[in-house]
Amino acid sequence: MIPVAKPFIGEEEIEAVAGVMRSGMIACGSVVSEFEKEFSEFIGTKEAVGVNSGTAALHAALLALGISKGDDVIVPSFTFFATASAVSLCGAKPVCVDVDEKTFNISPDEIMENLSFRTKAVIGVHLFGQAFDLKPVTEICEDNNLLLIEDCAQAHGAEYKGKKVGSFGDAGCFSFYPTKNMTTGEGGMITCNDSKSSDKIRRIINHGQSEKYLHTEIGYNMRMSDIDAAIGRVQFSKLSVMNKLRRRNAGIYDSEILHQGITKPFNNPDCLHVYHQYAVLVEDNFPMERDELMKYLASNGIGSAVHYPVPVHRQPVYADMPNPKCPVADDLSRRILSLPVHPGVSEDECRYICEVINEISG
Ligand SMILES: Cc1ncc(COP(=O)(O)O)c(C=O)c1O
Repeated sequence: MIPVAKPFIGEEEIEAVAGVMRSGMIACGSVVSEFEKEFSEFIGTKEAVGVNSGTAALHAALLALGISKGDDVIVPSFTFFATASAVSLCGAKPVCVDVDEKTFNISPDEIMENLSFRTKAVIGVHLFGQAFDLKPVTEICEDNNLLLIEDCAQAHGAEYKGKKVGSFGDAGCFSFYPTKNMTTGEGGMITCNDSKSSDKIRRIINHGQSEKYLHTEIGYNMRMSDIDAAIGRVQFSKLSVMNKLRRRNAGIYDSEILHQGITKPFNNPDCLHVYHQYAVLVEDNFPMERDELMKYLASNGIGSAVHYPVPVHRQPVYADMPNPKCPVADDLSRRILSLPVHPGVSEDECRYICEVINEISG
């Protein structure tokens, strides 16, 4: 089976972990700060703080920026659940808005429609590795005195108008989960330009300590370990190669999936897309429904996945969200399908996947 996702791990990562294990400093050592330094330089921010997941990155960033009970935070409905749950974890309320039908990313018009006096922040998600439209979203945030948090969990190395995502907002939040463009096993990173925010984040993720054993606030243990950072540093050194392979695979799908019933992803010319996912839409004129196509692909040795079958505003835990209307997110969740695009998929495998799809007839 060609898996739909697989971490690109080699002997170098294993050696790096062994090195940290041998050093005896497996947590709170220097490897995390070396990784943070490299990552902030790459993204183009003054600061970067390593944490133990992408969810922790969002949670800690929101807390550090002062989001709390009584605040509304606008999030796209078409995203992984953690974008919204991080808001709830702060005691604030996520307000789902619909996404753009072409890019699947947060719609600036929908943000405008859903602003209220309680709105304190917007979280935009660079979904599937393509930046959301940062220019209009940044303008809305500036005009309305709102914080902007970039959820970069799926977009390591992605660019908007030549600048890396994670450098535009008040904070950029990355995930290093194994399916992501780079991994640390579990892990995350927060990027920002304000050292006051990063100092606050460092306290929040380390028990609210302002100095050793002196706790000036209630915090969490969200720290990244040196074992994870060691994996992350090796993965980071391969990120541009891994992203190139993802883009190569996406290029093959772009030119060789020819079935009229499949809509391929829109490529915004302002963006460098890093294809965390290659997500197609199975149209009504395709001979099979999306779920049938998944089974058919599996019977031909091809893994696929649905990101995401249930949009955030339809999640049972958010049943009391005041009647949010997100028809685009509803429609996408019915038709979307991710094909294997990760760096471990060969050109021949991509071509085989195109052939299998192209040959399906009604
Ligand atoms: C868009 C988005 N936000 C947040 C997260 C949460 O990251 P993690 O799984 O590392 O907690 C993910 C991970 O799947 C994600 O895809």
